[in-house]
Amino acid sequence: MKAFVTGAAGFIGSNLVDRLLAGGSAVVGWDNFSTGQERFLARALTQPQFRLVRGDNLDGDALARAMAGCDTVFHLAANADVRFGTDHPRKDLEQNTVATFNVLEAMRTIGVKRIAFSSTGSVYGESTAIPTPEDAPFPVQTSLYGASKVAGEALLAAYGEGFEFECYVFRFVSILGERYTHGHVFDFYRQLLEHPDSLRVLGDGTQRKSYLYVQDCIDAILHVMNLGTARDAKHRTQVYNLGTPEYVQVSDSIRQICATLGLKPRLDYTGGDRGWTGDNPFIFLDTKKIQAAGWKPRLTIAEGIVRTLRWLEANRWVFDSRR
Ligand SMILES: NC(=O)c1ccc[n+]([C@@H]2O[C@H](COP(=O)([O-])OP(=O)(O)OC[C@H]3O[C@@H](n4cnc5c(N)ncnc54)[C@H](O)[C@@H]3O)[C@@H](O)[C@H]2O)c1
Repeated sequence: MKAFVTGAAGFIGSNLVDRLLAGGSAVVGWDNFSTGQERFLARALTQPQFRLVRGDNLDGDALARAMAGCDTVFHLAANADVRFGTDHPRKDLEQNTVATFNVLEAMRTIGVKRIAFSSTGSVYGESTAIPTPEDAPFPVQTSLYGASKVAGEALLAAYGEGFEFECYVFRFVSILGERYTHGHVFDFYRQLLEHPDSLRVLGDGTQRKSYLYVQDCIDAILHVMNLGTARDAKHRTQVYNLGTPEYVQVSDSIRQICATLGLKPRLDYTGGDRGWTGDNPFIFLDTKKIQAAGWKPRLTIAEGIVRTLRWLEANRWVFDSRR
């Protein structure tokens, strides 16, 4: 495979780059370093099969130039934070929808026809179907992030039909693991580093969430791409939920984080059944489809949280890099 990875310096992208290189693929990594870290690519940059190109998804011509010679695109670059969408309504549209259009257009221009897209469980809004299957009734969107990813998915499907692209859409729950730089474990740990005796928790702690370990997420993506399930399908876009067959309540995950760190902070809940507009109180995806394809996660949520904390403890520099 000659892979083009957008968001190559990000949390998931950099782990994917390492895995692709280890599997013998040549990789072009593309990133504008808005949230990505060059340190995450330190190992990749020592390998002759890797080339890093600094560039922005909003520059379609540069994208097409950098992508030339590749046969598969992994499109991970995005504004990956759900929470602040209403503070800057244009950002999700530009970074997640227009950027996805630019990636697809670059592919069409130079004749690359295979793409994996990192979508999200947020596209289900507050679905009443729990666990939520891929074909859940079309939901009400509760975040600009979710809406922008739905639009990105729709563009993939239309390119699949119109230009015979082979498209894979992966709707992730929250991802945990090495190089994790945003999300609830990150926020809690940062607070506890600054003041170990108190922790501010958005909402009332009853929100139920599902998480997946980053290497399990990558295994699932590569497994499905190797099977090539979209190749001979009637519609050449295949959608997979990625998650564990379990969920945790936020207050239980706080207990686990504090026990792992050996801390007993006072918990200050902001109240309400959600932390912010668009914070779905219950995210739990039905993963029967990907499991039927022969994949299952190796780590539980609890194991993923411990690995994440251990990595953050050993890499405190990331807290300064994400201020
Ligand atoms: N982390 C999660 O829990 C999670 C859950 C669901 C979906 N996702 C999706 O997975 C993907 C990767 O997320 P992540 O957690 O690794 O995020 P991340 O912020 O760590 O990585 C995103 C990368 O994309 C780069 N980037 C952003 N905008 C760019 C642009 N315009 N041009 C070029 N590069 C750009 C950033 O610099 C960064 O390296 C995203 O699409 C995100 O929406 C993540």
